[in-house]
Amino acid sequence: MSTIRMGLIGTGRIGQVHAESIAGLPETTLQRVADIDTASAKSTAERFGCHASSPDEIFTAGDVDAVLVASPTMTHLDLMVKSVQAGIPVLCEKPIDLEIAKVDAVRDIVNGSDVPVAIGFNRRFDPHFQEFRRRVFSGEIGTLEQLLITSRDPEPASTEYLAVSGGIFRDMTIHDFDMARFFVGDVVSVSAQGYNQFSDDIKALGDFDSTAVALRSASDQLVLISNSRHAAHGFDQRMEALGDKGMVRVDNVTDTEVRVYTADRVEAKEPYQNFFLERYLDSYRLELAEFVKLLRGEEAHCPTFDDGRMALVLADAATESAQSGQTVSVSLD
Ligand SMILES: NC(=O)c1ccc[n+]([C@@H]2O[C@H](COP(=O)([O-])OP(=O)(O)OC[C@H]3O[C@@H](n4cnc5c(N)ncnc54)[C@H](O)[C@@H]3O)[C@@H](O)[C@H]2O)c1
Repeated sequence: MSTIRMGLIGTGRIGQVHAESIAGLPETTLQRVADIDTASAKSTAERFGCHASSPDEIFTAGDVDAVLVASPTMTHLDLMVKSVQAGIPVLCEKPIDLEIAKVDAVRDIVNGSDVPVAIGFNRRFDPHFQEFRRRVFSGEIGTLEQLLITSRDPEPASTEYLAVSGGIFRDMTIHDFDMARFFVGDVVSVSAQGYNQFSDDIKALGDFDSTAVALRSASDQLVLISNSRHAAHGFDQRMEALGDKGMVRVDNVTDTEVRVYTADRVEAKEPYQNFFLERYLDSYRLELAEFVKLLRGEEAHCPTFDDGRMALVLADAATESAQSGQTVSVSLD
């Protein structure tokens, strides 16, 4: 089978990771890269031996079989629709957008087309979480009753980034809302608390630095999510599932399993893998491999446009709940 020629839009932090994945996968080649920062597109093109393009050329050049959108969030919907209208399958980074009205305005265009569209909720593809999920549904712990998700960044992103991020629920918890749905399906209500525990900068933006969210699923399972924009001990990414016959847990990941025992500490490990570019590196490659299966018509489980939309619906509900102090019901339409 011929390789899939990919066009990558956005060559920033996550764009570089995707470029590596595309170049590394036997089924894909990096054909074109585009960025409004033409110097960034050019240097990435030189590094990977492909064409530097304008974003529009990706859709018109005629030599791109699939597009990966890794530009900022406010560009996602527009580029997704352009790709669908050009008949080119698209894998688009999360979040789908920050405004549900804009998402709903293009929903019929995307869902009414048979062009494959996938959203980059990479954590679904993390090998540790995949194994955790397999064990949760293996029957070992009986019926799933509660899911606990801990997701804390080592330190806050820059103020410039946070100012346009859409707030902690839309920017950070969005991954956890998707993971919650990946385990318990439809969510019917959201209760959230937000705090300003440590960052005056984040408070000045009208955003929270620490949050706790409780979700109730359509089948009465509970999901508890703890987020913080800082964690002194490092990137803290854990999950725990309680069933009527036991519990499954997935802990943080270190580079080695070597443990040190001395007079003042026992079982000491190296620090956790640092932030998403290390901790979730495998997941970006596996997310792309799943997208390739979708393009080849094989059985594939890529997050859909509506998965992206529902994560944003939950983020909006959490924002409303944290501001009002009320539990917010979720419409499943
Ligand atoms: N799935 C994940 O784990 C993950 C991690 C990081 C970022 N993201 C998402 O990826 C997106 C990009 O984030 P980032 O951290 O790489 O940002 P970034 O600022 O590092 O990179 C964005 C790049 O896009 C370019 N750009 C801006 N507008 C453009 C346009 N109209 N057309 C083409 N290129 C344009 C910028 O010049 C920049 O090079 C965001 O939506 C973010 O939420 C996802």
